[in-house]
Amino acid sequence: PRVSSINFSRLRSAICDMSLEDAKRIAAYKAVDEYIKDGMVIGVGSGSTVVYAVDRIAERTKNENLKLQCIPTSFQARQLIVKHKLNLSDLEICPAIDVCIDGADEVDKNMTLIKGGGGCLLQEKIVASCANKMIIIADYTKNSRQLGDQYKKGIPIEVVPMAYAPIKHQIERQFGGELGLRMAIAKAGPVVTDNGNFILDWKNYKQDYDWAEINKSITLIPGVVETGLFVGMAKKVYFGLADGSVKEQ
Ligand code: 5RP
Repeated sequence: PRVSSINFSRLRSAICDMSLEDAKRIAAYKAVDEYIKDGMVIGVGSGSTVVYAVDRIAERTKNENLKLQCIPTSFQARQLIVKHKLNLSDLEICPAIDVCIDGADEVDKNMTLIKGGGGCLLQEKIVASCANKMIIIADYTKNSRQLGDQYKKGIPIEVVPMAYAPIKHQIERQFGGELGLRMAIAKAGPVVTDNGNFILDWKNYKQDYDWAEINKSITLIPGVVETGLFVGMAKKVYFGLADGSVKEQ
């Protein structure tokens, strides 16, 4: 085409979208290939990157006749497991998980994570806590020095609905920043999690906190169910890069 007929902005965004999806896929495939072995009980995380991991698990299950038990971390994860005809299990039947593969919204230099962009933080944390190894898969935009450098939507905090206002005020008073009730599309009402709770997203927080301490203090507030801060839980992170390589942390 003549140069004047090319829409450069659309072309650039098409290329960027493609490389972001590629970055997710290569990270997911590498993690699955390096960690998933026959006979394992695996935790299946949530989000768009995990979709590629489940694709790869399904492909390998078929080709290598793997016998796996899959524990979902959300309704979405459950649907992925069912769609691919993998063995769906739960923590009652399989309380000990070998490997949990999940995404993240941000990963700092200490492998502290922000999770819960998709609202699945509670079940993700429960499943990860039962896993021998939690492996994170992410594209390069999630790689950060300090929490808050990259992910601007805030730290999700799952709360019992009746307590959202006092929790918001207490955290703002005690730690600063602002908490907003996560709303559904078109602000039709609050987002309700798989567990029937609300989510507060905490923005403009101080970035140099001791996240283990903050996590402890926030979870002690009555009505807080869980935070999207995952401290000391990730064993390894695979970042898919724009150049087609995978960076391991
Ligand atoms: C959902 C999550 C996801 O793992 C996180 O939001 C990353 O998602 P994606 O892979 O779509 O970027 O924590 O609650």
